Parts: sequence; C-alpha cells; structure tokens
Amino acid sequence: MVQEQSDSRSGYGITTARSQDDLYVPPPGETQDKSENGSDTDEYLPSMKLDAPFFKVEDSEWDQLMSYRTDYQNYRRGFAQGARGEITECMTNHYLSNADIERRVIKLFSPAAVGDEDNKKIEDLVDEASREFIEAKNFSTPHVPELEIAARFQKSQMPTDPADVEGYFHDLIRNVVEDGIHTSCPQMIGHMTSALPNYCPMLSKLMVSMNQNVVKTETAKTVTFLEREALAQLHKCLYEDSPAFYAKHVQNPGSMLGLFTNGGTMANVSAMWVARNHSLGPVDDADGKRIFDGVEKTGLPKALRHYGYDDAIVIGSALMHYSMNKAADVLGCGLQALVKIPCDKNYRVDMEAMEARIIQAKANKECIIGLIGICGTTETGAIDPLDDMAALAAKYDIHFHVDAAWGGPCIFSNTHRFKCKGIELADSVTLDGHKQLWLPMGAGMVFFKDPYRCLCVRKTANYIIRKESYDLGKFTIDGSRGGNALFLHANLQLLGLRGYEVLIDRTVRVAQYMARRVLRSRNFELVVKPMMNILLYRWIPASMRDKVWAGELTLDDQKYIDECNRRLQDRQKGEGRTFVSRTTINAPQYDQTPIVALRVVIGNPLTTEKNIDNVLDDQADIIDAGEVTKDFNNEHLFHTEHCADEPPKMANALRQVSSSNGLSSIDETETFNNYWEKVWEQMPRKNRFLFNDDMDLFFDTLSTPDCFLMDQDTKPLVRKESHAPLSESESPRSASAKAQLP
Ligand SMILES: Cc1ncc(COP(=O)(O)O)c(C=O)c1O
Repeated sequence: MVQEQSDSRSGYGITTARSQDDLYVPPPGETQDKSENGSDTDEYLPSMKLDAPFFKVEDSEWDQLMSYRTDYQNYRRGFAQGARGEITECMTNHYLSNADIERRVIKLFSPAAVGDEDNKKIEDLVDEASREFIEAKNFSTPHVPELEIAARFQKSQMPTDPADVEGYFHDLIRNVVEDGIHTSCPQMIGHMTSALPNYCPMLSKLMVSMNQNVVKTETAKTVTFLEREALAQLHKCLYEDSPAFYAKHVQNPGSMLGLFTNGGTMANVSAMWVARNHSLGPVDDADGKRIFDGVEKTGLPKALRHYGYDDAIVIGSALMHYSMNKAADVLGCGLQALVKIPCDKNYRVDMEAMEARIIQAKANKECIIGLIGICGTTETGAIDPLDDMAALAAKYDIHFHVDAAWGGPCIFSNTHRFKCKGIELADSVTLDGHKQLWLPMGAGMVFFKDPYRCLCVRKTANYIIRKESYDLGKFTIDGSRGGNALFLHANLQLLGLRGYEVLIDRTVRVAQYMARRVLRSRNFELVVKPMMNILLYRWIPASMRDKVWAGELTLDDQKYIDECNRRLQDRQKGEGRTFVSRTTINAPQYDQTPIVALRVVIGNPLTTEKNIDNVLDDQADIIDAGEVTKDFNNEHLFHTEHCADEPPKMANALRQVSSSNGLSSIDETETFNNYWEKVWEQMPRKNRFLFNDDMDLFFDTLSTPDCFLMDQDTKPLVRKESHAPLSESESPRSASAKAQLP
C-alpha cells in the first residue's frame, strides 16, 4: 500500500512516497540496529539528499532546511531519540489509514451510546480505582522512590496513532493512580491537601460534562450567577454587611464582592494588583479634569514619579507565603520591595517593628502598596494580631490585605473565631477553597470589603467582557476559567455554617490532642504550639534529652538533632504508612537558631486521635529499629505508670531560679515532660477547678500559645445571629431576586 502524504510539520511542501515497508530504511551499509544514538548520521545522509525544493530557498535558509530534512529523515526512520520505539511499534502492529483514524477520533468526541460495553468497562475501571484510592490505608506505596516514577515517564515522542482507550486507562491506573499520594488518607498529616466530601466526584462529572467557561456568560449563562452567589455568601461570613448591601451587590455587574481564582497564589497576586492600582490610581483636578491616568495606564515608574515616591513596597511578617514574592515580582515592584518584619515568640508579626518601618517608609518616600496580615502562616499556623494591624493600616491609610488562605475558615467556629478578630476590617482577604473549605484543587478566592475596589483592574474587549456585561473575565487575571465554583456552592449549601464549624472545631481538637501527647512524651519537643491546627515538634535523641531540659544545647547539638529529624521524616515517608512534613524555622526559644522541625497540619476531617497515635507509634517503631540513629532508648511516649519520682532537671533548675528570685512559680512555658502530670496531681482542688477538673484542659493550656492565654480580650466574638437560620430578607436567593441592577 502506497500513500502520498504531505508532512504538515515541514512547511516546505516536501512530499514523500511511503509504504509500510519504506517507512524504515536502514542507512546504506548498515543493519537495522545500528545508530540508536544517531552517530552514523553523516554516513548515510549523503545518499539520502533530496532534490532541491521546487520553490526558491535563500542561501541563508539552506542550512536550516537541510538540518530540518536530516531531523525529519531520522525521525521517519526511527533514529531520532525516543521516536524509534513508537514508530516501529506502529509499523509492525497496526497500520491505520487516515479514514480509520478519523473514524476513531470522531468516535471519541461522540457521546457513548447507552449500554456501550467498551464505555461501561472503562467507567467500572475508573470507579473501582477511585474507590480503592480513596479508601487506601497507607498514604503512599511503600518504597517507591520518585526516581522510579520519573523513569516511567521518559518518552518525549508523542505517539503517531491514537492509543486504545481501555489500554490507556489501565496504564494510567498502574503508572499514576496506584502510586499516587493518597491525600485523603487520615494518617497523612503533613500538608494542606486532604479528603473531600463524597459528592465531589459526581459534581466533577457534571462540571466536566458542562465544560463551562466563566470568562463570559455566553459560555457560562448559569454558573456565572451561581459563582457570584457563593462568593456573596462567603463575603457575608467575613464582613457581615447589611442585607441591603448584599441585595445590591450579589448580582451587580458593576461591582465585585470577590474574585474566584485558581488558588491562594493567584488570589494574593490579584489582591496586590488591586492594591497597587488603588494606591496609585488616576487623579482629577478640582474641575474633574483628569490630570493623571493612574498606574494601570502609565505603569509603575511614571505613577511613582507623579505621586512623588521613589519606590513602592509591601510590608508583612517574615512568614509571608512565597506567593507574595511572586506578586511583588509580577507587579513590577521587585522582590526587594517585600519588606519582611520579624516575628515575636508566637510567630506573630512584631507590631512595633512594623509601625517603625511604616514611619521610615514615609520618610524614605516609599509608597506602601499593602500591609499584609497572615491568618494561618504556612509553616507555623500562626495568626497575626489582625485587629492591631487593621488599626495601623487605617492610621496610615494603607490597603490592608489578610492572607487567610489556610486559617480563614476559623471564622466559622464560635469557639475559635476570636483568634482572627480584625479580619473583618481588611480591605481584601484571600481564602483558599482547596484547603479548609474542602473543595477540589483549583479553588482560591479574594474578597473585597468595598465591592467597587477592584474596578481599578477592570479590562474589557469588544467581543466579550464588555463593560456592562456580567462577564467575570473583566476582573480576573485568568481569562478562560472552569466552573469550579460549582464545588464551592455545593459545599456551602451541603455543609452550611454549622457543618463548617464542626469540621474546624474537630481539626483543632485533634491538633490539641497531638500537642498534648507530644508535651507528655519524654523525647519529643513541642516546637510550635498550635494556634489552630498546625503544630511543629521534633524528636530528641536519648543523649540530648537532659541538655534540652537543662537548656544547654550547643549549635552542634542542634545540627545533630536536625539530622536525626531529617532522617526520621525521610524514613517515615519512605515506609508509606503515615506522613508528617518537615521545615526549618528560626526558633525563638533557641535565640532564633534555625532548627529542623516536623510539621503537622490537621486539615483532614477524617483524622482522629487514633490516627495521631498511629503516626507517633510509626515514628517510635522507626526509631526503635535503629533506622535513625543508635542513640535512642524506647521511652518514646510518656505513660503515667512509668512516671519518674524526680521532676526533670529543667524543672528543678527553673524551680531553683524561681525561688532564688523570690518568685512563687516556675516558668511553665519552657518545660515539657511528665513533670506537669505531677504538678497536676499535687494541684489543690480549687485550682484544678479552674481547668474544670480536667487534666487534658490543663495540658491544653500548657500547649496554647501565650498570646491567647495572656490576651485579656480573647472572648469569642459572638455573631449577632450566631448560627440562626437566615431570615427571608437575608436569604441569598431572595437577595438575588431583588438585586438592584444598574
Ligand atoms: C498562607 C498561604 N498563602 C497562600 C498560599 C498559596 O496557595 P496556593 O498553593 O493555593 O496557590 C498558601 C499555600 O500553602 C498559604 O499557606
């Protein structure tokens, strides 16, 4: 069979007469197997020279043309790296005509007939693989290193013919699904990605079937409005504005309560984009005549000059997420514009240092584009003093942005909401839906207190996103975007305020349980007490324990402990049963020495106290097997029956210091071990009463960051209507019905 084919890649109109047999032509004098590496290319090339093309080729183009031909010939003969396998396989196994391919490809786009056996087989395969994946006991397949996975994906040559669908799904399940990370495993407590509600895959099927593009209503006539409704519901949780406010803005094409993005990074970048354009906006004179077009039109250098600034900066804590680096970079400010203020011992930004830097900025003629508060830092889970920051931002008239990508959903909990008080004063707030709103990946949001604030970034076009349209693409950095808001809308309705409250309270409770266990163990040190549901701890080898308790660790000791914890985390990850992550932080309790700590993020609602025990037991097993160091003994966790008679040295030392200073109590926050159980046992009843006569509560107090113990003003902020059902006039449905549309 001979086929005339023009290769569209060429652009030169080269026509090749090909049959199955002549697809592979060994180079002259060579057998078929030679030259995998192309080393004999020069030998065979001369005999394969093609005639000059029928069109004119400039001299300067000739080399390029010849080089293309060489590549093309090599490719066709399977000598190009990576291509040989596919091409020979294709030649020997099946030869499909163009018509065959067309039929096959068009079938892939056509809806499967009801009862189509092939399709049913694939659906069953996927259902089974999904179920097994979600129900997996381990977080990962044991001992499958990343290098081995990388080796599975080495082909840089796309296959020539379409592959068999069922075969492809089988391969996919074997190569990708089976060894994937089971993010829903309750014993994976090291990252922010977790289990999803069980209706999500069904929603996903609907969403992909609909394949809406919310850049414009012409491709998302319903999802556009659903997205706005969901954003309005969260805006109300954050800002608690009036029913009239929401009636006006929920479906108002001239204002935006929030933007839906792909994640927290894009939400932060969008917030900074709005903050920059707002800070350096257009200026009109007294007669309303425009005298400056604003940074959006002129760019940063001209805008700074117009306003009399020398530079533009963003100020936040040293623990700002690296997405702020990206924001500073893409907005033209540069990384040096990101001013990082040191943190206090609770990893909250130092407010005095922050105000001092603001004053300095004014003197230096630096425009402060935004003041960044963090509600749940990525590494330590700390929540900045947001109310104090809001006051500072108001005092100096700076856009106040809160990165609440992780911790924002704290607002749902009546018990924990006080921790983020002040968030309601922020000009903009980032929430990450794929974290603690339990949405599938690809869901971030940024909300604006003032729904007109993001008009300063609005873009329009003639064919879509016209100014007066409902098209969401006017405000987002993304153009085309999927209908992920379906998941958000579903979760908000199907979990409700009380459902989210239960989930948040539960994860915090489990984090506190873990903090208590670490605190009561002989050989783990609680490095960062959980403000919400992130904590850091580390394992202390046997020879170092007395030194830790006595506060005598040297830098070399710290390095040794770091290395042990690195190994412990590596081994644990390799075993695949349980997982914690690790980070390096500057530890205030060790004079800001950088130390390696194991990082725990309790974001999975399915994680229970039993899972925490399993994680710690797993670590104990690894240590007991001598896989980390020989410097261990097996007193990993404290049990009351093994309680030592003497309090540990550090407690003794502190007691001596306290009594020599005439102090009546020792510094509790520095001590961790069974000593505190003895304190509890000896505590007079009336004192125990302060803790509801509950030792766990006493330990929770010990493992609570000081700022929450000391703060006089930590009463939970009780919402006016608490969790009472919305009245008819407040219901988003009636609000949208009554929306005032300009
Ligand atoms: C505080 C904070 N902000 C922003 C982000 C960025 O979110 P994403 O990874 O969804 O872009 C993260 C992610 O961990 C985060 O913890």
